[in-house]
Amino acid sequence: IRDLLAPEVNAQFDRYMTRLRKERTTSGIMLVQTRSGERRVWEYYNSLRTEGVATPIVRGMARDITEQRRAEVALRASEERYRELFENDKDAIYVHALNGVYTSVNRAAERLSGYSREEILGKHFRDFVSPEYLRQVGESFGKKLRETGETNYEAEIINRNGAHVPVEVSSRLIYEDGVAVGVQGSVRDITERKRAQQALLTYSRRLLEAQEAERGRIARELHDQVGQMLTALKLNLHAIQGTGDAGEARRLIEDNLKMLDEALEQVRDLSVDLRPLLLDDLGLVTALRWFVDHQAQRTGVRVEFTSDSLDPDLRFSSELETACFRIAQEALTNVARHARAKTVTVRLSRNRDYLILLVEDDGVGLHVEALKGQAQANATLGLRGMQERAHAVGGRVKIDSATDRGTQVFVELPIAMPNARPRSPK
Ligand SMILES: Nc1ncnc2c1ncn2[C@@H]1O[C@H](COP(=O)(O)OP(=O)(O)OP(=O)(O)O)[C@@H](O)[C@H]1O
Ligand SMILES: [Mg+2]
Repeated sequence: IRDLLAPEVNAQFDRYMTRLRKERTTSGIMLVQTRSGERRVWEYYNSLRTEGVATPIVRGMARDITEQRRAEVALRASEERYRELFENDKDAIYVHALNGVYTSVNRAAERLSGYSREEILGKHFRDFVSPEYLRQVGESFGKKLRETGETNYEAEIINRNGAHVPVEVSSRLIYEDGVAVGVQGSVRDITERKRAQQALLTYSRRLLEAQEAERGRIARELHDQVGQMLTALKLNLHAIQGTGDAGEARRLIEDNLKMLDEALEQVRDLSVDLRPLLLDDLGLVTALRWFVDHQAQRTGVRVEFTSDSLDPDLRFSSELETACFRIAQEALTNVARHARAKTVTVRLSRNRDYLILLVEDDGVGLHVEALKGQAQANATLGLRGMQERAHAVGGRVKIDSATDRGTQVFVELPIAMPNARPRSPK
């Protein structure tokens, strides 16, 4: 027998003999080397017989369990792998019996619910679902029993702290020998997604409101200012028509000219607010320079504009020019409305493949972090609009500020947008 054993376990043979002599029966596992040198695992059961025989003999039986061993090891490894996947999944995974009582949950389920595994197991799913979702969850459970396949639905659970957490559930029946025995499912926390959806809704609602408000403002300005002045002009003209006094007529004409200048100015302001024609005709650099000067006159803030490295005739894609102009416009409007600044610097430059816009003021500054949360809640459009315009052309906006240090709006827009529409020829 010793010769049959694999060399490395050869020494075990003595121990085996000792045990056999003492205990008379013994069983165990031995590693055997076959003629071709292959190793096999045998399970043996041997006994020593001394009575009724001339010399003691050992009778035994052995069974080759190599394949079975391998299968067991493979199964353990695969179970281990499955276990790890189950345990480490980011989504909460559960199994509940057909009566709705949990039989197994993973670590993420503990995190999501705030309850420990021991607390969850043995409880009904009813204990975790928000009351207003219970009917829906029950219905989808019923549906699962009638139809095969996966069911997906959104619901809400109540965690240990009493907070309602929106979740997305995807679940399926599990079978044993063809008979449904329970439900396995995964639960994903969708708080973030819900919040983003809500923010988007608020944002689009505010966008529509702002559009309406803007139209209202323009209508009012046309009516109250331009309209008033045109009426006054008309009255003056009537008066001129009726008067025989040349001096009086000259005074009225002078008055009219002044009013005409003012009306022209107002129409120009309005049309710039709507869409600066300059931008289409003469390009970004010229339009921005003009707008900056104009804004300085309107607000009395000192505005410096530099575009040193840029050729004023340089044209970019229409999307890019519009995006950059609108962002600058919003940034400067914000300075006028909120910053209480003395000086603003607007710098337009090019850095390789990027157009860079910098709007810097020396005003009161703002709390960027505080603003982020606030902007979510109130959905102010300005800063968000800047971001969206920049994103739409593949760029970004960075706002840097601290109270009493003024505000710096840094905008970086790629010049060669992959899908930019070429400018339509005039
Ligand atoms: N240059 C600045 N200096 C100081 N505070 C600023 C500046 N720019 C923006 N803010 C602050 O950030 C807030 C958000 O700006 P945002 O442009 O998003 O909204 P808004 O200007 O109030 O309204 P709108 O939606 O009409 O633009 C402002 O209300 C203001 O408090
Ligand atoms: Mg604004």
